[in-house]
Amino acid sequence: MKPPSLHKALPLLATLFRPSLSQDGHAWRTLNVSVQGRLHQTVPLALPCFSLYNGQPATVDEAQCAAVRENYTNADFRAGQASAYMNLQSEQCWSSPADQCVLDNTASPAPEPPPYVPCNQGSVPTHRLEVAEAADVSAALAFAKEHGGVPLVIKNSGHDYMTRNSGKGALALWVHGLKGLEFHSNFVPEGCTRNASVGRAVTAGTGASSADVVTFAAAHDSTAIVGYAPTIAVSGGWVLGGGHSVLSPAYGLGVDRVVQFKIVTPDGVLRVANKCHHADLFWALRGGGGGTFGVVLEATHRVEPAGPVAVAGITLPSNITADTAMQWIELVARQSLDWGRQGWGGHAAGMYLTYMNPLPAIANLSDGGLAALAAMKNATDFATSIGGTSVIEILPDFIDVWKKYVVPGAQQTAGQVRVLSSRLIPRSLFASDEGIVKLMGYFAAARDLGFDPRGFYCPVDTPFVADSVTSYEVGETAVNPAWYQSLWSMGGASLSIPWNASYAVRLQNLTALTKATLLAEELTGIEGGTYPNEANPFTENWRESWWADNYPRLLEIKQKYDPDGLLKCWKCVGFDDAETESERFSCQAKLQRDINESLIKGYD
Ligand SMILES: Cc1cc2nc3c(=O)[nH]c(=O)nc-3n(C[C@H](O)[C@H](O)[C@H](O)COP(=O)(O)OP(=O)(O)OC[C@H]3O[C@@H](n4cnc5c(N)ncnc54)[C@H](O)[C@@H]3O)c2cc1C
Ligand SMILES: *[C@@H]1O[C@H](CO)[C@@H](O)[C@H](O)[C@H]1NC(C)=O
Ligand SMILES: *[C@@H]1O[C@H](CO)[C@@H](O)[C@H](O)[C@H]1NC(C)=O
Ligand SMILES: *[C@@H]1O[C@H](CO)[C@@H](O)[C@H](O)[C@H]1NC(C)=O
Ligand SMILES: *[C@@H]1O[C@H](CO)[C@@H](O)[C@H](O)[C@H]1NC(C)=O
Ligand SMILES: *[C@@H]1O[C@H](CO)[C@@H](O)[C@H](O)[C@H]1NC(C)=O
Ligand SMILES: *[C@@H]1O[C@H](CO)[C@@H](O)[C@H](O)[C@H]1NC(C)=O
Ligand SMILES: *[C@@H]1O[C@H](CO)[C@@H](O)[C@H](O)[C@H]1NC(C)=O
Ligand SMILES: *[C@@H]1O[C@H](CO)[C@@H](O)[C@H](O)[C@H]1NC(C)=O
Ligand SMILES: *[C@@H]1O[C@H](CO)[C@@H](O)[C@H](O)[C@H]1NC(C)=O
Repeated sequence: MKPPSLHKALPLLATLFRPSLSQDGHAWRTLNVSVQGRLHQTVPLALPCFSLYNGQPATVDEAQCAAVRENYTNADFRAGQASAYMNLQSEQCWSSPADQCVLDNTASPAPEPPPYVPCNQGSVPTHRLEVAEAADVSAALAFAKEHGGVPLVIKNSGHDYMTRNSGKGALALWVHGLKGLEFHSNFVPEGCTRNASVGRAVTAGTGASSADVVTFAAAHDSTAIVGYAPTIAVSGGWVLGGGHSVLSPAYGLGVDRVVQFKIVTPDGVLRVANKCHHADLFWALRGGGGGTFGVVLEATHRVEPAGPVAVAGITLPSNITADTAMQWIELVARQSLDWGRQGWGGHAAGMYLTYMNPLPAIANLSDGGLAALAAMKNATDFATSIGGTSVIEILPDFIDVWKKYVVPGAQQTAGQVRVLSSRLIPRSLFASDEGIVKLMGYFAAARDLGFDPRGFYCPVDTPFVADSVTSYEVGETAVNPAWYQSLWSMGGASLSIPWNASYAVRLQNLTALTKATLLAEELTGIEGGTYPNEANPFTENWRESWWADNYPRLLEIKQKYDPDGLLKCWKCVGFDDAETESERFSCQAKLQRDINESLIKGYD
């Protein structure tokens, strides 16, 4: 090859020796000044336990390391840490097992790592801006526009399963601190006439958690509709992606109940989005996904008057066989349409069910719980006949359900590499024997792939009878319309991959998961759909699965509000499959490519 001539080489050298942005202290200092010092470098959560960091010697800090080890799988602890995520795939560089800084999560406290193990940054963003006001977001967006190479990510509670909340070398906008709460007895969206009042509502800063919002609503004699984990951000990724709740069958999804957003759009302007202002953006924010159309600062959600809630907690003994779990799942499937019509929602699983119902015919404090007991009789009989337990009760208020059932189950569940796959199962499938047989055929096939039916987990949280109780209008949200024709959001297959799994194990496990995803797609065809917040991140036809016919309009709105593509995330609206190979998605790319290849080989 001919050496480049000198006059060609000079500009090349100039480019080479221009400090890269990560070393360009000046640009970062300027940004830091414009945000009053709220910019910080972020190191991995477990760094205090390691003596090697990104190839350099590091100092172990025993006290800090002990605090991290003690709290490693604690959800409350993780939600409050800048560098911690609920699911470890957001911290690891998933395609490069050595590029991570995680602890052994199989024991509590987490054991100290052996001294020769290095701590590497993985996909933990290198910088964060602790957002306090709209101007912080505007400054970061302007910075990203000027320095094209810096990926921006939005981090809130860190619950995402899809790796959309972190990114190698990224600047994270950490919005967790925006926790304001306000109650309205009769909310009128800004710019609408008074007759557009939507009744009682709560405005929640984007950092406010489910626990914050449920507790605040209860103090105002109201029930808020939130996800089944105290730490999820109600005005964050939960509502932006759809937002299901155990009360959704009766009261609708988060997107059916949200009436207004305040958001900084990618041009740096703080806007109100509701049905009277930026109605296109408002529609897109109701299900088009987080991290895409701007940075939400707060959202206002309709709440319901407080009232009693029926609870059914049925548990099979821990020694059951996989065949018994199959029989149980079939019984639950056969009862599901009736339960749906009665307003029950919650979680069906291979070894239990936990259902809730706020509708008066079932949540009846004066009938001694008889209606609820009758509804659950077959399931109770099945469980007790094999040594299981059944508790059916009516509690006076959702906050009592929250304290007794949600909070205790939620704490030591974080810090895992937890991966889901889910599919919305049409109501029609439950209506005939043929449909149930098809559904059970899926479970048998998933079992052959290595997914034990005892591990089955399924939110039964679709807006089943909500249209008769609340005033939401179908078609006004951007979620896959399948939500309004479905009964289950079936997580037929899910995985917990070991924290230290080799690349080969990750690839094998995620390929099996993707095969199960394809089986579930086959089961429902396009009548079904997939909830992007609880999906397999390696889903191939993600646009159709997440949004179906809503995708083209979502893409138009994305291009209108973010013409420079300042906000990008994995399989979000506007993501281009060709970008899989770009630097910012390098932690997902190799796995996606290899899963793809294994599947093609598998079908040969
Ligand atoms: C233990 C657990 C239980 C769950 N239970 C439920 C459930 O019952 N119902 C349900 O529907 N889902 C549930 N989920 C899924 C949950 O809805 C998603 O993980 C959701 O993405 C969480 O949003 P977050 O803002 O809290 O989390 P993050 O991971 O911080 O953010 C998620 C996504 O939203 C974006 N985002 C967050 N805040 C903003 C903002 N202010 N502006 C713009 N984009 C933003 C992020 O960039 C990211 O893409 C559960 C998840 C876990 C881990
Ligand atoms: C930003 O400024 C604050 C306050 O001066 C300082 O504590 C912080 O370290 C700075 N951040 C960076 C990334 O230098
Ligand atoms: C971590 O756990 C310890 C022991 O349980 C506790 O005392 C401490 O407060 C926790 N730290 C944080 C930041 O939550
Ligand atoms: C509200 O009032 C406006 C103007 O008075 C009217 O045009 C509109 O139809 C009314 N809307 C509803 C929902 O009643
Ligand atoms: C609640 O139970 C009482 C006593 O059985 C009954 O009279 C009443 O009609 C029930 N309420 C509803 C809404 O079904
Ligand atoms: C219980 O199961 C039987 C037989 O499948 C069915 O006929 C009956 O309706 C079920 N009972 C309830 C309360 O759903
Ligand atoms: C399984 O456990 C239950 C409840 O503990 C018990 O009643 C039953 O006998 C056990 N069955 C077997 C096969 O061990
Ligand atoms: C991963 O860690 C576990 C302990 O949690 C250990 O038993 C196992 O051998 C490790 N596996 C690999 C591949 O290093
Ligand atoms: C995941 O990998 C582990 C270790 O190789 C294996 O035992 C397990 O069966 C795999 N799970 C699935 C569903 O492929
Ligand atoms: C995976 O393979 C399909 C063809 O089977 C192709 O359309 C798709 O673009 C591939 N995706 C990636 C990320 O390689």
